[in-house]
Amino acid sequence: MILFGAVLLSARAEPFSHQRHAGVNLQCTFCHKTAATAERAAFPAWKTCHTCHTEMAEHPIPSRRVYKLPDFVFFSHARHSAAKVECTACHGDVKTQARIELHRSTRMASCVDCHKEIKATLVCNACHELGQ
Ligand code: HEC
Ligand code: HEC
Ligand code: HEC
Ligand code: HEC
Ligand code: HEC
Repeated sequence: MILFGAVLLSARAEPFSHQRHAGVNLQCTFCHKTAATAERAAFPAWKTCHTCHTEMAEHPIPSRRVYKLPDFVFFSHARHSAAKVECTACHGDVKTQARIELHRSTRMASCVDCHKEIKATLVCNACHELGQ
């Protein structure tokens, strides 16, 4: 475990900046703990930030949803990670983004384009149960 020392913070509640943290070079899974192992990548809790920001008072870490699928779509981070699809293929280089911006659309056409190109599944029911 590397110690980064206390990083002083002002009380402002700004959205988390990946760009600002590019220098500390953390693995994505340091904060998005289940990005390789579960459907959801998940957001970090205060405790994770507190590792470095030891002065930070306990509070919920805000998260917007830039990437959001409707409930009837099945998506799995674990499946894509197992197939060696990099985070950047869908989310771009977040380390250059002060605020997360949509890199690759979450529309069906965008999923299907890559699945065609890479010869991944195109079966309708792989992504949603459409009824028989
Ligand atoms: C130090 C913790 C931390 C690290 C490391 C980190 N993130 Fe994040 N990430 C966050 C927080 C906090 C949010 C929520 C802030 C927001 O909504 O903009 C977030 C949001 C995101 C989102 C936006 C999700 C959405 O739907 O809006 C994506 C995509 C993302 N991170 C990808 C990555 C990738 C890829 C990496 C590795 C290159 C990474 N993150 C590393 C803390 C982190
Ligand atoms: C590995 C250590 C580390 C972790 C973990 C970490 N940070 Fe940071 N954070 C830093 C460093 C170092 C800076 C200063 C970067 C700079 O000044 O360019 C910083 C800067 C910041 C700033 C800007 C400070 C200011 O006053 O302008 C905010 C806000 C922030 N971090 C919030 C968070 C949040 C929220 C989390 C958890 C999701 C988090 N950090 C996790 C190391 C970390
Ligand atoms: C094949 C495209 C794709 C890849 C690769 C991918 N993501 Fe995502 N990501 C998405 C989609 C689509 C969503 C929205 C999921 C939803 O709404 O159910 C999402 C949502 C997220 C979120 C929001 C929180 C959550 O749990 O849904 C985070 C954080 C995130 N991704 C981080 C990552 C990280 C880190 C990696 C690499 C380890 C990664 N993603 C790889 C497409 C991808
Ligand atoms: C690789 C994943 C994937 C596959 C394969 C797929 N879909 Fe989709 N589908 C999605 C996503 C993501 C959405 C939601 C976003 C959108 O509406 O574009 C969606 C949305 C839809 C909708 C709702 C559209 C709307 O405007 O509300 C229908 C209907 C649909 N798909 C039918 C199908 C049929 C039929 C097939 C097989 C020929 C299929 N899908 C295959 C990912 C997929
Ligand atoms: C950049 C390329 C890429 C994008 C974009 C992408 N996928 Fe995939 N997807 C893959 C690969 C590669 C696999 C693994 C090969 C396979 O299982 O067929 C996969 C597998 C899957 C599986 C598991 C298939 C199975 O057989 O069970 C689902 C479900 C899926 N993707 C849904 C989606 C949805 C929904 C989206 C859009 C939101 C999406 N994918 C976007 C490349 C991509």
